[in-house]
Amino acid sequence: MKRSEINQIMRAADAFFRSQNFHLPPFAYWSPDEWRKKGPEADEIVQHRLGWDITDFGRGRFCKCGLVIFTIRNGAVADLQAGRGKLYCEKILMLQHDQVCPMHFHWQKMEDIINRGGGDLHVQVYHSTPAEDVDDRPVTLRVDGVLRTVDAGTAIRLQPGESITILPGCYHKLWGWRHDVLMGEVSLVNDDDRDNRFLASVGRFATIEEDERPLFLLRDDYERFWGKD
Ligand SMILES: [Fe+2]
Repeated sequence: MKRSEINQIMRAADAFFRSQNFHLPPFAYWSPDEWRKKGPEADEIVQHRLGWDITDFGRGRFCKCGLVIFTIRNGAVADLQAGRGKLYCEKILMLQHDQVCPMHFHWQKMEDIINRGGGDLHVQVYHSTPAEDVDDRPVTLRVDGVLRTVDAGTAIRLQPGESITILPGCYHKLWGWRHDVLMGEVSLVNDDDRDNRFLASVGRFATIEEDERPLFLLRDDYERFWGKD
C-alpha cells in the first residue's frame, strides 16, 4: 500500500470514529516529529504494539479485503504464564461496507467481537479440524452471553450493540453490510506475530511504499521514529 493511501484511510477512519462518538487516546495523533522526542515513557505503546494498524492482508485491494485496527490497550504475552498483569486487549476497528476480514482463527486468543455502531456486522463461523481446515460440525457459541448452535459456515448477523464470543480454534470471517461498521474487540492478550491462522494464505501486514510523509505512525513505524531526535 502507498503511504498516501494509508494517510487517506487514517483520515477517513478518524472521521468515522468521531461520527460514532468514539474517541481515540492522545497517542493516536502524535506526529512523526513528536515521536522522535518521546523517550522511555512511551515504551508500553511500542512494546505492546498499541496504535494504528492498517492492512490489506497483502492482497492490494484494501476496499475489498482489509481492515483499520487501532489497538487501544494490550498486555504482554509473557504475563500469560505468570497469570497476572495486563492479560487483556482492546481494539477499535473500522470495517468498510462490503469489505472483508478473511477467515482465520487464533490458537490462544479468545475474543469478543462487538458491533459498536454503524451498519450490521456479519460473522461467519466454522470449527477447525486438527489439520486446521474448516470443519462441517455445527458450531456452539455465545451471542451476548446466550448459547447458540448454528450450522457450520453460518454468517451470524450482529446489529449495533450485539457481540459474539469467539473461542480459540473457531474460524471466523467478518464483513460489513451496506454501511461501515464500528467494530470493537475485547480479548486475551493479542500476539499478532504468532497467534493468527489464516485459512487462505494472506499476509497479516501490508507492504508500504513511502510516497509521502506519514500523517500518524502505524505501530510498525515506531522503531524508525521513537526517540530518534
Ligand atoms: Fe480474530
